[in-house]
Amino acid sequence: MTEPHHRRITSFTRRSGRLPERNQRALDKYGERYVIDAQVDPGLFLTEVPDLEKAFERDAPLIVEIGAGAADQVVAHAKAHPEINHLAFEVWWPGVAASVARIVREEVDNVRMICADAVPALPMIFGPNRKPDEVWTFFPDPWQKARHRKRRLVTPEFATLIASILPEGGTWRLATDWDDYAWQMRDAIAAVPEFHNPHAAMRADEDDPGELGITGGFAPRWEGRIQTRFETRGLNEERKIHDLEVIRA
Ligand SMILES: C[S@@+](CC[C@H](N)C(=O)[O-])C[C@H]1O[C@@H](n2cnc3c(N)ncnc32)[C@H](O)[C@@H]1O
Repeated sequence: MTEPHHRRITSFTRRSGRLPERNQRALDKYGERYVIDAQVDPGLFLTEVPDLEKAFERDAPLIVEIGAGAADQVVAHAKAHPEINHLAFEVWWPGVAASVARIVREEVDNVRMICADAVPALPMIFGPNRKPDEVWTFFPDPWQKARHRKRRLVTPEFATLIASILPEGGTWRLATDWDDYAWQMRDAIAAVPEFHNPHAAMRADEDDPGELGITGGFAPRWEGRIQTRFETRGLNEERKIHDLEVIRA
């Protein structure tokens, strides 16, 4: 089958893997409730706009996480903020299954998973009549090898896309444990005039090349962010964690 709309370079590769039995059981029993019934092509490109109102069964402020992994962060936040809806994109099916198991275990009812490539899906789902209040991109895959850098999610095009779906005053939060990706994120955001960075020039690193003539721009650690295993791994390997917090002007 051909993949008509598939992006040539994606921020992920298709991986499969057996699901642990308890995650499979959670998926079988609760998948229908917590995983949005999204129509996608084989490249995980959304082919039909899902009905969010139906999925959440209520109208509430909305946070969107892109690349939620096993949903550690989104479930922790959802538990602390039952008044907010959380929509979590994840392309890795075992991650979606682990997320459903976590949602059930933590007894939260305000998280919905969607297994689709977020890049083409976001402008399909969000537009002038529907906007998320906040977007998160925490510890996106670093694609460290030079020949893989083109797969990195956060680019000026991606920043432009996030600016187009956020409302005025909406927040985009990011974090990474890779210095060069942090600088790339900062530069990608600085290239988009719709974003205001309240932390501009702050917390500059000594070795930041500042290719656009700017350095720093990093936020203090956001207190709403828990330590996931990706952050733990970065810290164990003695990498610095950078947070970004920017506002759609
Ligand atoms: C390194 S993990 C971080 C997970 C999580 N944010 C955390 O901190 O624990 C990045 C995740 O993003 C997912 N991902 C990458 N590109 C994506 C895309 N275009 N749409 C949705 N998910 C994506 C990957 O499958 C992976 O699980």
